[in-house]
Order: sequence, then structure tokens, then C-alpha cells
Amino acid sequence: MSKPFSLDLSGRTALVIGGSGGIGNAIAQAFRAHRATVHVWGTKERAADYAGIAGSDLDGLHYQQMDVSDFGAVEAYQPPFDRLDILVQSQGSVLYRRQEFAIPSFRQVVDVNLISIMACANKFEALLVETSGTMIVVSSSAAYHATRGNPAYNASKAGAVGLVRTLAQAWADKGVRVNGIAPGFVPTRLTAVTVEDTKRSEAAVSRIPMGRFGTPEEMAGVAMFLASPLASYVTGQTVLADGGMLL
Ligand SMILES: NC(=O)c1ccc[n+]([C@@H]2O[C@H](COP(=O)([O-])OP(=O)(O)OC[C@H]3O[C@@H](n4cnc5c(N)ncnc54)[C@H](OP(=O)(O)O)[C@@H]3O)[C@@H](O)[C@H]2O)c1
Repeated sequence: MSKPFSLDLSGRTALVIGGSGGIGNAIAQAFRAHRATVHVWGTKERAADYAGIAGSDLDGLHYQQMDVSDFGAVEAYQPPFDRLDILVQSQGSVLYRRQEFAIPSFRQVVDVNLISIMACANKFEALLVETSGTMIVVSSSAAYHATRGNPAYNASKAGAVGLVRTLAQAWADKGVRVNGIAPGFVPTRLTAVTVEDTKRSEAAVSRIPMGRFGTPEEMAGVAMFLASPLASYVTGQTVLADGGMLL
């Protein structure tokens, strides 16, 4: 008889880029709760700098500062771990008030949301191959529709979905699965502009058939599935987790 599936991540090491906040933080804490050793990257100098910030629970996580748009720094990074089973790329940024229509801002968002994914994939490929590990990219439901006022966010997320497919194909024969999560609307620092404005928030919820926003923990559930043996034959896919918003 085959063994039952296990979600126990004992002995596994994960790195969650963007694990200092919101969705990435919930993913990091879910992996930790399932006994993985979890490293996270964020932009602040020290873990203590996140004290008191909602959605940034760094308890039990190993924190390192990294600006992922500094590709030289990513390349030069000396990991404090010698094995890597799960790489999650949840870094993300957005600029409002039509800033993304100007090329410097457009480039800034694309650097963080798209090009850094490739830079980090290159950096950690060899370690993932050694463990037959897996990579998970957090893109967005915004990959699949126009996003008024945010051309860079839209283009970077559509690019991230494409990159998941192509890296999955490139790494399949090396034993590494690559998948993505496309969240719909989840209250985090990134979406505070909408969530904290009653009118905008009600309008956003009215477009979601399930009648509510998602939670970071629900995105972590999808990440747990993709990282686990339950998804051992799944690669190149991006799971849309949007409460039915795009239906
Ligand atoms: N919330 C949603 O509704 C939603 C919907 C669709 C997709 N997403 C995607 O989900 C991912 C996580 O976003 P979130 O909602 O959880 O927002 P968040 O709480 O603001 O988290 C964003 C994370 O990215 C990190 N980050 C930003 N710029 C970075 C840089 N230059 N270098 C390194 N790290 C950087 C942040 O670090 P600091 O903590 O230091 O700022 C933080 O850890 C993003 O890719 C976002 O586009 C979110």
C-alpha cells in the first residue's frame, strides 16, 4: 500500500522572499508550523524593525535583509543554510497615482516584481536541484486583466505567470517543480490603500462572488499544497485564489 501523504516539513529548509510581510509572512509561518526551518528576506535592516507591524510576525523565522532589485547583491549573497527545499518568491511592490506610467517608476516595479524572480531563481537553482526542491512564485489575479492606473504591476505579474511556465519546463528534468499562486484581494500593507477606504473596500468586495476578501493564511494553504507531495505531479501552474473574482 502507498504511504499516506504527509504535510510534515521536518528536515526541510525554506526561504521565503518577501516573508517579512503579508502573504509571504503567512506562508513562512505555515511552513514553520509544519516544522520546516524557515528563512525570510525583507527590506528592513533587522527583524526587530518589524516589531508591532501588523502582518509581520517574525517569531521563529531567520531574518535577513535584501533589496531584491539589487541584482548584484542577490548574486553575491552567501546563504546561512546549506540546503534549500522550498523557495517562495512573494516580494512585491506597486506605485499609485499614475507613477507607473513614467519609465523610472515602471522599471522600479518591474525590477522588484519580475526581474528579481529570475535573479533569485538563478541564485538558488543549484541548491533546489540538489534537494529536488520546489519554487513557488506569488503573482496576482492582476496577471489576467487590465489594472487601471498600474501598467507596471500588470505587466510584471503577467510576466511572472509566464516565467513560472518557462522555468517549470526548464527545470522539470532536474527534478524541481515550479508553480505559482495568483491571489485575488487580500488585506495586507500592499492593499491598505483600498481596504482602509470604506467606499473602495465595499466596491472591491462587491466584485467577489464569495463576498469577502481572502486572508494571507488562505494563500498559505495553497502554498502548503504546492510545496507538499500532494502536488508532486503539478508543475508550471499558477493557482488562482480569488474567491471567484475573475469568474
Ligand atoms: N495583497 C493582495 O491582495 C495581493 C493580491 C495579488 C498579489 N499579491 C502579491 O502578493 C505578494 C505579497 O504581497 P502582500 O500583499 O503580502 O504585501 P506586503 O505585505 O507589502 O508584502 C510585500 C513583501 O515584499 C517585500 N518587498 C517589497 N519590495 C522589496 C524589495 N525591493 N526587496 C525585497 N523585498 C521587498 C516586502 O518587504 P518589507 O516587509 O520589508 O516591506 C514584503 O515582505 C506580492 O507579490 C503581491 O504583488 C498581493
